[in-house]
Amino acid sequence: MNKNDYIIRLETEKDYRESEELAREAFWNLSVPGCSEHYFIHLLRQHKAFLPQLDYVLEKDGKILALVMYSESELVDEKGNKKTVLTMGPLCVHPEYQRKSLGKMLLEYTFKLAVGMGYDTVINFGNPDNYVARGYKSCRKYNVCFEGDIYPSALLVKELKEGVFDGRKWYYYQNDADEPCNDEKAVAEYDALFPPKVKAWQPSQEEFYIHRHSVIGRE
Ligand SMILES: CC(C)(COP(=O)(O)OP(=O)(O)OC[C@H]1O[C@@H](n2cnc3c(N)ncnc32)[C@H](O)[C@@H]1OP(=O)(O)O)[C@@H](O)C(=O)NCCC(=O)NCCS
Repeated sequence: MNKNDYIIRLETEKDYRESEELAREAFWNLSVPGCSEHYFIHLLRQHKAFLPQLDYVLEKDGKILALVMYSESELVDEKGNKKTVLTMGPLCVHPEYQRKSLGKMLLEYTFKLAVGMGYDTVINFGNPDNYVARGYKSCRKYNVCFEGDIYPSALLVKELKEGVFDGRKWYYYQNDADEPCNDEKAVAEYDALFPPKVKAWQPSQEEFYIHRHSVIGRE
């Protein structure tokens, strides 16, 4: 595919439904039967941590094929110093166009914009396979952890410029934009606004469980 066939642009209000349909297609049955990411996107756009300046879609022939969103979260060191970082997500590509570098294009494009906006770190919780080629490293390498000194395997950190981390311990406090997604009834109500789709088990759900519950024990 030719890079020039694609337009990378800010999401607009007119795209909202199409973006949510895309997210629903991309995430359906991936980590749980069904998915909540279309609801999450809907909520995130209204959340105070959301960054509309980094809400990007990739389109071809007038069809949205991929999207990425970012929000702000916080790192706090042991002395209580705070640092604002970007939380990336969701990122998704239409299932028919996955593994063709669209996700890579969108990430690299928005990383550059983020640097221009003064951010130096991107963090997300996800499958490392999707991110290590983009320069993400294990949170353990940068001494970034959850409360309780937990270094999840899926907690991935990307320095947007070299040398951001100096070895001190940082606790990651992700914004709470996704909290309402734990409400299964609210997710089901939002999902009912979309065409019916069959929920089913698939192996990626087990893979997700393993990633979600794994931690890196020591360096
Ligand atoms: C994850 C996702 C966003 C990646 O976007 P994509 O356009 O499919 O992926 P890309 O082609 O840009 O490849 C990204 C990286 O994935 C890896 N990758 C690509 N093809 C792969 C394959 N067949 N098998 C394993 N890894 C592969 C590579 O590391 C690649 O980077 P590289 O090309 O620089 O080596 C996309 O597949 C998707 O939407 N998946 C469903 C939703 C999802 O999982 N979102 C992320 C939540 S954590």
